[in-house]
Amino acid sequence: MPELPPDLLGTLRGAGRVVALTGSGISAESGVPTFREAQTGLWERFDPLELATPEAFARDPRLVWDWYEWRRGLVERAEPNPGHLALAQLERRLPAFTLITQNVDGLHQKAGSEYVTELHGNILRSRCSLEATVVEDYAPGEAPPPCPNCGAPLRPDVVWFGEALPTEVSRVASEAAGACDLFLSVGTSSLVYPAAALPFEALENGARLVEINPNETPLTPYATHVVRGEAGKILPALVGAAFV
Ligand code: APR
Repeated sequence: MPELPPDLLGTLRGAGRVVALTGSGISAESGVPTFREAQTGLWERFDPLELATPEAFARDPRLVWDWYEWRRGLVERAEPNPGHLALAQLERRLPAFTLITQNVDGLHQKAGSEYVTELHGNILRSRCSLEATVVEDYAPGEAPPPCPNCGAPLRPDVVWFGEALPTEVSRVASEAAGACDLFLSVGTSSLVYPAAALPFEALENGARLVEINPNETPLTPYATHVVRGEAGKILPALVGAAFV
């Protein structure tokens, strides 16, 4: 049983509105490599920060599409871990809970979370690179496949480096952060903006901040509670103890 700050349970039980922001760390225990971990096999020689950009897709759509197909395969084989499941339970137990994720792996939905604000999109969805409409069915074979409606190449429905976050998603996330009493930052290095600004919006409005991460991050000095360890162990213990 991980060491939990004694007053954290009371804070969680008594919180009116809770926000959880997750990063790739919560999926690490599901075997999904974090973005920056070394790529394997065929993709070893490529830098993810290079591939996940509009420029890379314009230069070589096939390469970028194939890379995402590889990552989709990894993610489709992954199962949610107890950390994801604990947050799905929190959604059912709390009167007002908002789950915001930077992850594109869909594991929160697989774990049973009904409302997931996906800041960076979802790798399991594809969209027309011209019309931006999500396309469920497309003819296999070509890489990338052409949009069935206009023929433009499809692309993963994710936010690439240098692209703006979807407006609606940003609004929902910022409003929830600004109105919450308790903000949980789980498994994120707190390096990538605008996601990394959300805990500060919560602090500005008097919320308590909890960081759950085995490592220190730039957010650590601002946290009301820091719980050092793995989300897959800490979150079930926290939710289990708070809502016995
Ligand atoms: N439980 C909790 N946290 C963990 C675990 C774990 N089991 N394992 C690792 N971590 C932490 C690491 O200590 C690190 O702080 O998860 C964090 C992962 O950081 P990043 O790999 O930078 O992932 P993230 O913060 O989600 O990156 C933000 O940047 O890579 C781009 O668009 C991508 O959404 C991503 C964004």
